[in-house]
Amino acid sequence: MTNLDDKVAVVTGAGSGIGRATTERLATEGARVVVADVDFDGASETVERITSEEGTAIAITVDVSDAAAVEAMVEETLDTYGRIDIAHNNAGIEGSNQPVTELDEAEWQQVIDVNLTGVWLGLKYEIPAMIESGGGAIVNTASIGGLTAVGTPAYVASKHGVIGLTRSTATQYAQKGIRVNAICPGVIDTAMIERGATDEAGTETEEIQQLVQQQPMGRMGQPEEVANTVVWLSSTEASFITGNAFPVEGGYMAL
Ligand SMILES: NC(=O)c1ccc[n+]([C@@H]2O[C@H](COP(=O)([O-])OP(=O)(O)OC[C@H]3O[C@@H](n4cnc5c(N)ncnc54)[C@H](O)[C@@H]3O)[C@@H](O)[C@H]2O)c1
Repeated sequence: MTNLDDKVAVVTGAGSGIGRATTERLATEGARVVVADVDFDGASETVERITSEEGTAIAITVDVSDAAAVEAMVEETLDTYGRIDIAHNNAGIEGSNQPVTELDEAEWQQVIDVNLTGVWLGLKYEIPAMIESGGGAIVNTASIGGLTAVGTPAYVASKHGVIGLTRSTATQYAQKGIRVNAICPGVIDTAMIERGATDEAGTETEEIQQLVQQQPMGRMGQPEEVANTVVWLSSTEASFITGNAFPVEGGYMAL
């Protein structure tokens, strides 16, 4: 167990999947949690799950690609809880699997805006608040698509960018008491994978079956298995770790 009593954590993309699992684990460890998502219903459901277990959380609507909205998310966190100690910049979208030459410019831009610019905007507004709070820990969600070509072209480009941005930010703020790391989930059982897992008739696609079969453990990861790594990196247990990208992928990178 990791004691996060009195800590305040902000998690984006927390209305579903990995972000939801992270908020639940953070709240279990005693943190007060800001559940931020573009989908307010999803965020509210996460808050209900946390408060029904005696945790403390609020829901905030945010589009992470919108600078004013991200700034407002940080302001509302400070107005409500007075500080920020932990941030998990996690919101992301997958994009469609078009070859590079067929990819529509608007779609390319949307994936980069949410997955990469969204993480940068989080850092931009969270870091000054953390410095005011005496330091903090940030975990950005990249992907094995940030280390390999697994994923759609814009997605892979955005997630490589998240790792580069994580490293650069970690070196800039290491002496200000801010640690910044990235996680690189493999195939995790969330709505994102579900969307690509079934065809129009609702049948599981061959692509997904193959993807699962390729996994060394023969299964997908669970969001809670990713959340455990995020919470560990956010805690003092990881006090000498910054600027790294951690695969959480059941051995996929060893293949
Ligand atoms: N599931 C996987 O296999 C996997 C693997 C590697 C990386 N990831 C990454 O993990 C992160 C979380 O994905 P997930 O698998 O939990 O998927 P998910 O679809 O279950 O959750 C993503 C959440 O992000 C929110 N979101 C989307 N766009 C947003 C925006 N502009 N602003 C704010 N919130 C927004 C969605 O509403 C949703 O609640 C993503 O960054 C994704 O790329 C997932």
